[in-house]
Amino acid sequence: MSSRRSAGVLVAASVLDSDLADLGDEIRRAEAAGADRIHVDIMDGHFVPNITFGWKTVEAIRRVTALPFDAHLMIDEPGRWTQMFIDAGCDSITLHVEVAAAQLRPSLELIRGAGRSAGLSVKPATSLTELDPYRDLLDVILVMTVEPGFGGQSFMTGVAEAKLGAARAWLDPAGACEVQVDGGGRSANAEVIGRGGTDVIVAGSALYRAGDMAAEVAAIRSIAGAARAGTLR
Ligand code: DX5
Ligand code: ZN
Repeated sequence: MSSRRSAGVLVAASVLDSDLADLGDEIRRAEAAGADRIHVDIMDGHFVPNITFGWKTVEAIRRVTALPFDAHLMIDEPGRWTQMFIDAGCDSITLHVEVAAAQLRPSLELIRGAGRSAGLSVKPATSLTELDPYRDLLDVILVMTVEPGFGGQSFMTGVAEAKLGAARAWLDPAGACEVQVDGGGRSANAEVIGRGGTDVIVAGSALYRAGDMAAEVAAIRSIAGAARAGTLR
């Protein structure tokens, strides 16, 4: 499924650092605050030094909202699990380009074949040229602006400046695909993100540790949207 570019910038709420004892309510809270999507970070303790949720958890929390679910698979063997995340109801599934190449193309084809959006993510030090072999299969590029593994880290401004606009340019100029940014996203850096032409901003701690989640969602969207509109002019 090729996701058309949205007119505005979308906010995806990462539930990684939400109150996991009340995960369903935390998703409803993000929806009520105006988040456009739910971002679920799947970690296997190998690709990253942390372990989070499996597909059973995603399947359960999927029932809580009609908002789209973006799954971000930080796992060494996405090929082993992709079908489960499709069956769990994820609307987009993003793998990491740094895992063994044999894992990637079959999974991306599976995701596309199921009518979902297929994505690849790049860690801060990974060049966008690593994506070249998969250009025909990508609906989403997810640019990491922290080292994957944990929420609450500082946004890497230099990585955003170097890669977001470049990722946009690498994609179909007609905008048939979307660029997501993940790691440290918040209103304080929404301008640089928007200037890169970014479509989706993932925000975890900025939302779940905010006094007023709705205000933060609105600020991210409006600041990034205004900056992106400037680049589209
Ligand atoms: C980090 C995850 C991010 C993270 C976002 O590996 O991929 O989605 O949870 O959290 P913040 O916005 O706090 O960086
Ligand atoms: Zn993520």
